[in-house]
Amino acid sequence: MMRQVNVAVLGAGTVGGGVVDAIRRNGRLMASRLGIELGVHRLVVRDTRKRRDFDTNGAKVGADWREAVVDPRTDIVVELVGGTTTAREMVLAALQAGKPVVTANKALLSAHGEELFAAAREGGANLYYEASVAGGIPIIKVMREALIGNRVTAAYGILNGTCNYILTRMRAEGAEFETVLKDAQRLGYAEADPSLDVDGIDALHKAGILASLAHGFWVDVKKVAAEGIRGVTPLDMDFSGRLGYTIKLLAAIKLEAPKAPARGGKAAKAGASGLRISVTVCPTLVPNHHVLASVSDVFNAVFVRGDIVGDTLYYGRGAGRNATASSVLSDLADAALDLRCGERQRLPPFVPHEEFGALMAPGDVVSSHYLRLSVTDKPGVLARIAAILAKEQIGISSVIQPEGHEGASVPLIFMLHHATRSAVDRALKSIRRLPVVTGEPALFRVETFE
Ligand SMILES: NC(=O)c1ccc[n+]([C@@H]2O[C@H](COP(=O)([O-])OP(=O)(O)OC[C@H]3O[C@@H](n4cnc5c(N)ncnc54)[C@H](OP(=O)(O)O)[C@@H]3O)[C@@H](O)[C@H]2O)c1
Repeated sequence: MMRQVNVAVLGAGTVGGGVVDAIRRNGRLMASRLGIELGVHRLVVRDTRKRRDFDTNGAKVGADWREAVVDPRTDIVVELVGGTTTAREMVLAALQAGKPVVTANKALLSAHGEELFAAAREGGANLYYEASVAGGIPIIKVMREALIGNRVTAAYGILNGTCNYILTRMRAEGAEFETVLKDAQRLGYAEADPSLDVDGIDALHKAGILASLAHGFWVDVKKVAAEGIRGVTPLDMDFSGRLGYTIKLLAAIKLEAPKAPARGGKAAKAGASGLRISVTVCPTLVPNHHVLASVSDVFNAVFVRGDIVGDTLYYGRGAGRNATASSVLSDLADAALDLRCGERQRLPPFVPHEEFGALMAPGDVVSSHYLRLSVTDKPGVLARIAAILAKEQIGISSVIQPEGHEGASVPLIFMLHHATRSAVDRALKSIRRLPVVTGEPALFRVETFE
């Protein structure tokens, strides 16, 4: 029997408007697939006088979100307001009232995920968040459901479309970061204040959600040092290209080898299994032959390696009105089906599992690196830098001093073997002190996907 489910949409901006519009367009199609009719009966905005560029389709438009949440006819609440203050109150109020919530808010989940999941458990209502990571790519469903039989040994993501657009154009045109950023702002791909995107914070929020889902403990992203793309220059794009790489803002989540037990046989701090995970978000050299190197413009991609399935790839638009609305619709369908089946938590939003529990400190993460220095062009410079690297046990796999650079300062590029980030940082600190080193060094991870 067809059932009507009433949805209160809080926030009718880019995504909220897209959701209302998509339900108007495809609501009938969804109803024929689900046997449930989804209807937006309330729409909550800050400014009720603002003209909307979509058909509100008979929904009651108001500014009082509490009234919409507690309305006994509201079956599902969709939070598309953004931010971490009012949005947190909205989600908590709905969950405490036992109403399922759909959100696209990665900043909120990143900051208050544990509290919200606890509220969902206590309220007996579910929290759905497909649109919070990688926009239209159904990666949450993949992690939670499709790959449920796998241990995720590694996941790599290009998770921020703004950064990917800027890096793609820098590489194609040899353009400066600031020039492309201005274009991105003009085209609506970057905010007036772009820091959340270009400083890697948005990608970090998403990486934290994916890491938590994959490994069964809530990863505190405050313990991860995200690096953004402001330090990437056309020179680095050029040199990395000549070395066979493309620079991407890459989130890497890896299951690491167990820590050696402490002397005396004490179990390592990392929980019963001693396993640890690393999470990094930073500009990374990706080999040109790897599929992630060809993900360009505003597109996102997530590459997931499961111990049973092997390598898998998910690609699509990581943001935007329609792509994000598509993921919200998927969550709405799940929420409606769960309500119909009386299973308010068929699959709880986040299930703590495994005893891993340990996130590696950023300084302990081992990786290869690309290091570009500006140095005074005179004999003995290379030997002095190599000596500092050797002192930290950092091997050099190649050194390039490109032709055609003349003057007081010339670029010198090192590809460094695997070393901990703290060893590389210590070496860099000493290298910076050399009088022959001029200008700001560039240090990026190199990912081999092994
Ligand atoms: N934009 C994307 O492509 C995208 C992609 C993935 C995820 N997300 C996430 O989706 C969420 C929404 O993003 P968005 O881009 O759609 O934001 P947006 O365009 O700024 O829209 C925000 C909406 O919330 C309303 N609002 C703000 N404060 C309110 C309050 N106190 N009470 C009631 N309504 C309030 C605004 O009302 P007025 O219209 O009256 O100002 C507006 O309609 C965010 O969490 C974002 O991170 C966005």
